[in-house]
Amino acid sequence: MVSFHTVQQSNGLLASLPQTQGLVAVFIGATSGIGQSALEHFAKSTINPRIYSTARAKTVDSHNEFLDTLRKANPTGSYTLLQADPSLVSDMDGAIDGVLKKETKVDLLFMSPGFFAWEGRVDTKEGLDPSMSTRYYSRLRAVQRMLPLLNAAPSPRVVSILAAGMEAPLNEDDLDLRDMKNWSVWNASLHACTMGTLALERLAHENPRLSMVHCHPGAVATPGLAHSNKHGLNPPNPISQDEGGQRALFLSTSDRFAVQPGLVPIPDGLEVLPRSGGGMFLVGPQGEMKDSEKVLAPMRQRGVDKQVWRFTQDMFSKCVAAAA
Ligand SMILES: NC(=O)c1ccc[n+]([C@@H]2O[C@H](COP(=O)([O-])OP(=O)(O)OC[C@H]3O[C@@H](n4cnc5c(N)ncnc54)[C@H](OP(=O)(O)O)[C@@H]3O)[C@@H](O)[C@H]2O)c1
Repeated sequence: MVSFHTVQQSNGLLASLPQTQGLVAVFIGATSGIGQSALEHFAKSTINPRIYSTARAKTVDSHNEFLDTLRKANPTGSYTLLQADPSLVSDMDGAIDGVLKKETKVDLLFMSPGFFAWEGRVDTKEGLDPSMSTRYYSRLRAVQRMLPLLNAAPSPRVVSILAAGMEAPLNEDDLDLRDMKNWSVWNASLHACTMGTLALERLAHENPRLSMVHCHPGAVATPGLAHSNKHGLNPPNPISQDEGGQRALFLSTSDRFAVQPGLVPIPDGLEVLPRSGGGMFLVGPQGEMKDSEKVLAPMRQRGVDKQVWRFTQDMFSKCVAAAA
């Protein structure tokens, strides 16, 4: 367990360490909630950061206003808004292309888009359930496309804020829950979480210098949680959005979650977090390890990870073809 005090002390070092100056970070889903707070703390805690952040059409204006406050708070940084809808795989391609054109490395890819589909499933124009595409397909696509720049950074990291530790058996005959008899708010959430861990583990294995972090933030008092409260999801004692953001910044910058140390040294009394059998950091709300091996190991043995990978790449090909 990592205390909030320790988190704040670690984040407080970001401004003074030479290795954390000039970091390049890309945020997807930071127009609200945990991502927005993580972006704010990242911007205010670092020197010369180069920040890219996506917003879909309906939140472009408010996000630009938010970025203006960061420009004023930390004029050493550069702040670029990329218009992209995180429910669309093809939009992720456009956003990542925008970064590929301008940067030679990316130190951090931070992803927290997503929602519970309480109002039901209304597919995107790519034919995907947006509650799954925001939490799984688009995230994986963004990481895959960003790999060249991530691998060019000295201590690269991907942080996915979702539901580590909640991995569960999949409906292997209907991975995207196409049949509405198989779909539910909860099943879509479990599929996004589990397919995400299996696919990101593969990328962690193929890119051994890359720290791949999947975190369950616990209950965090965000607009997303407020919406879920109205539908009867009332987890006890949520932490504030501000603490959620600071904890997410710790996940993004502490060597506790690094395969290639080089950012903020691990606080006294803590160690590098052990990784999952698939080589990924699965992290709980207090910065602790989540152990999902009972579910994941048999899946890997049976090749479900490969099935998920093939299925997803096929889905990506269809999205790209439809967008062409
Ligand atoms: N908060 C919690 O207690 C909690 C607990 C466990 C897991 N999580 C997960 O952590 C992640 C972040 O949660 P949060 O509470 O910070 O969420 P949030 O405040 O609701 O922010 C969610 C982000 O996802 C985007 N988004 C939401 N619905 C979308 C849609 N239909 N299409 C495209 N983009 C959409 C939002 O964009 P706009 O601003 O444009 O709407 C925003 O950038 C989510 O995946 C959530 O499931 C949260």
